[in-house]
Amino acid sequence: MIGAMIIAVDGSAASGKGTLSKRLADHFNLAYLDTGSLFRALALQLLNAGTVIDDIDENQPIEESTRLDVGLCNAPEIRTDRVASLASKVAILPEVRTNLLTLQRNFANDPPHGNGAVLDGRDIGSVVVPETPIKFFIDAKLEVRAERRFKELLHAGQSVMFRNVLADMRERDQRDRTRSVAPLRAADGAKIIDTSTMDAEKVFAVALDHVKHIVGT
Ligand code: DC
Repeated sequence: MIGAMIIAVDGSAASGKGTLSKRLADHFNLAYLDTGSLFRALALQLLNAGTVIDDIDENQPIEESTRLDVGLCNAPEIRTDRVASLASKVAILPEVRTNLLTLQRNFANDPPHGNGAVLDGRDIGSVVVPETPIKFFIDAKLEVRAERRFKELLHAGQSVMFRNVLADMRERDQRDRTRSVAPLRAADGAKIIDTSTMDAEKVFAVALDHVKHIVGT
């Protein structure tokens, strides 16, 4: 393959796209960007600034998106469902998407280390780096994903109820898939993997086969 390798991994919440992306990045010595953490960091920044979630509407300018504190991407607080829900709400706003797009493209084109980059999110293969030939779309049944997220949250010490996690995820899925700008969908040419009945090892093996097929090794 000529030039840096860029791998686009899109998919629904708790589909296993993050786990797969990290493994691909390790395997091929690529830098990894979890783009959801940018949207989550912005959501946390807004919450810290006292923004009322229900106030956000499609035409609202969100100035914070031009001065996002990227350090918040590593804050443990971004992993709560409250932040995830607000992240998917601000992700609807065209101005926010444009501002965060620049950060994502800069990372893909000039990764901080390694031979290229893996980016995971919702619109990586369709909008952020549509030119890359290596694209995945990772999905799983809603109930399976909600169960995974429920266990993760319990493990992280958060007290949650399964039915609330399921309802939040259903609502977030709906918003991510139906928004007018860059909705969640499989990009043209993406390899679709349904992880409902697969473990991480199997998903990685299927993905690796696909990469080898594309790069011709
Ligand atoms: O992948 P995640 O669950 O951390 O993402 C949180 C939210 O951010 C998700 O519900 C929608 C939004 N998002 C997006 O719109 N585009 C991306 N590339 C990544 C995330």
